[in-house]
Amino acid sequence: MRLSVSTVALLATAANGSVLSWTESVSGVQYSVGIPEVAAAPFDIYTSIVAPIDMTWAAIAYGGCMLRSPLLVAWAHGTNIIVSPRWATAYHPPALYNGTTAKVLKTSTVNATHWKADVVCCGCSSWFGGAAFVPAMGDTFFGYGVSNLSIANPASPSTNIGFHNVGKGHWELNITGARNSARDFTKLTKPM
Ligand SMILES: *[C@@H]1O[C@H](CO)[C@@H](O)[C@H](O)[C@H]1NC(C)=O
Ligand SMILES: *[C@@H]1O[C@H](CO)[C@@H](O)[C@H](O)[C@H]1NC(C)=O
Ligand SMILES: *[C@@H]1O[C@H](CO)[C@@H](O)[C@H](O)[C@H]1NC(C)=O
Ligand SMILES: *[C@@H]1O[C@H](CO)[C@@H](O)[C@H](O)[C@H]1NC(C)=O
Repeated sequence: MRLSVSTVALLATAANGSVLSWTESVSGVQYSVGIPEVAAAPFDIYTSIVAPIDMTWAAIAYGGCMLRSPLLVAWAHGTNIIVSPRWATAYHPPALYNGTTAKVLKTSTVNATHWKADVVCCGCSSWFGGAAFVPAMGDTFFGYGVSNLSIANPASPSTNIGFHNVGKGHWELNITGARNSARDFTKLTKPM
């Protein structure tokens, strides 16, 4: 049994669909997810990560923990957002992963106080040939890692990243609340 660090409660219905948001209390990083209203994986996952500007990178683990689970690491580089799919088989800085693709949405922003990575991940809901997956309904865990250590080469998605020194763990959510009609999911993931 996994211990729940924190449970998610906030259901936000945004203008462009439903997302579930959770804020990590030490770093102040907010994670939001939205999925389409489908029966089961594979499906694309909308993910928004809003981080205070002094957080150099923040990551999400769709399987709930760092190892053997699709990871996305995001950071700001100037006014751009860089998102890097990663995979870890050991507790080392994870390597670039080609089993998923991440599309950075135009709603991503960087300002004086925060960076915001709005991303659609393709391939993040199902891995090991479908033997491991994110459920389309009910309870699940997502993992997180946050750092304020400098990034070696922030222009490059394959750069080495440091330790998640600010925090790591997981949160629980009932993903039923993050389901969107096909029309709403399209709006969420293809904003004007
Ligand atoms: C993807 O990664 C796997 C495992 O590391 C590797 O065998 C494969 O060649 C890579 N594929 C591409 C297109 O880079
Ligand atoms: C900076 O970006 C954050 C995250 O998107 C947002 O909440 C905040 O309102 C923005 N600040 C300004 C001054 O626009
Ligand atoms: C998840 O939320 C849905 C809709 O609110 C609810 O019907 C369902 O019972 C919840 N599942 C769990 C495991 O709490
Ligand atoms: C980085 O995070 C650590 C752990 O939360 C904190 O002790 C330290 O003050 C932070 N450093 C900076 C430069 O913000």
